[in-house]
Amino acid sequence: MTRLRAATYNQPAFTPFLPESAITQEVAARAAELQSRALKELSTVSDAEGLEAWRVAYLGRKSEVTLLKRSITDVPPGDRREFGQAANAVGEALASAFEQRRADIERPGTKDSDALDVTLPGRPSRIGSIHPITSTVREICAAFGEMGFGVVEGPEVELDHYNFEKLNIPRHHPARDSFNTLWIDKTGDDGERPLLLRTHTSPMQIRTMERQEPPVRVIVPGKVYRYEATDATHEWHFQQIEGLAVDEGVTFADLKGTLYEFARRMFGAERKVRFRCDFFPFVEPGVDMSIDCFKCGGEGCRICGDTGWIEILGAGMVHPNVLEGVGYDPQRYTGFAFGVGIERICMIKHGIDDIRLFYANDLRFLRQF
Ligand code: PHE
Repeated sequence: MTRLRAATYNQPAFTPFLPESAITQEVAARAAELQSRALKELSTVSDAEGLEAWRVAYLGRKSEVTLLKRSITDVPPGDRREFGQAANAVGEALASAFEQRRADIERPGTKDSDALDVTLPGRPSRIGSIHPITSTVREICAAFGEMGFGVVEGPEVELDHYNFEKLNIPRHHPARDSFNTLWIDKTGDDGERPLLLRTHTSPMQIRTMERQEPPVRVIVPGKVYRYEATDATHEWHFQQIEGLAVDEGVTFADLKGTLYEFARRMFGAERKVRFRCDFFPFVEPGVDMSIDCFKCGGEGCRICGDTGWIEILGAGMVHPNVLEGVGYDPQRYTGFAFGVGIERICMIKHGIDDIRLFYANDLRFLRQF
């Protein structure tokens, strides 16, 4: 591609002269016409070849300018001096216009060899990839989505009221300690209730139930925060997915069946699961669920810490106090809830041994996904 600006030179006007005879007048008209035609044509020339063709046609030995000069023999002797000057002026005007045009065409960047070749393949711009945590969230949401769970999200800056109080963790309950809460140095809208960075996604259980009547079937992905020293398995901010199902006649068998199916979808159809008692104030009974180690098949290895089992989530039947607190009748409705740590699931799936890698912005790590 050749980039060419419009010709920049000023087109010199043909210098008229006062002819003595009709024949001189005619030759003079020819000269004027020749000059304007040649300059017009020159302005459309855009490459070296066209320029050379133009030079041969207008300035060469057999060119129109040469013919014009020769026609001096047709001009009466008295007019010849003036005619000769005029014809020379045409030649000079065309020659200088030619030089300017050539300079324009040969200016660096406008020669064919310097030109941008649009047919060359472009430099690919680097597009990023999906962060492993994001794709894990999507995978988990898809697994529960197919089982009929809708997705909701909630605030990361939360009220004590939702993060603890309504989850059956009153002010001086010892369970509060285990959450290592990051408090916010301000009070809530009512001037009293303190704000915090949510320590889990469970407050969305309450917010969801307050908003609607049963049946409830939701999952809640989102960030949570804890005042904790970081190491290979702890971050002060990480992500969870909460799950909640409440309806008439929901039993512990529904909890087991749903979470078993989830484990198989995430970690393979041949997975086994194990439930053990655990304590969370907002469920009763509470459990933690493990899957058999898909790496060693239960023999014991680095991934499962030589136990053959990998703990992947906490769960339980929604505590009657919690149902009552949101105005649900615990005699009529029952439900189960669970909380999954996303980083943990992702680390297990991909064999990642340090949680801090997810947030270190090291492209050598991130590009692998
Ligand atoms: N919120 C709990 C935690 O962060 C996990 C959990 C959720 C346990 C729901 C039971 C039911 O540790």
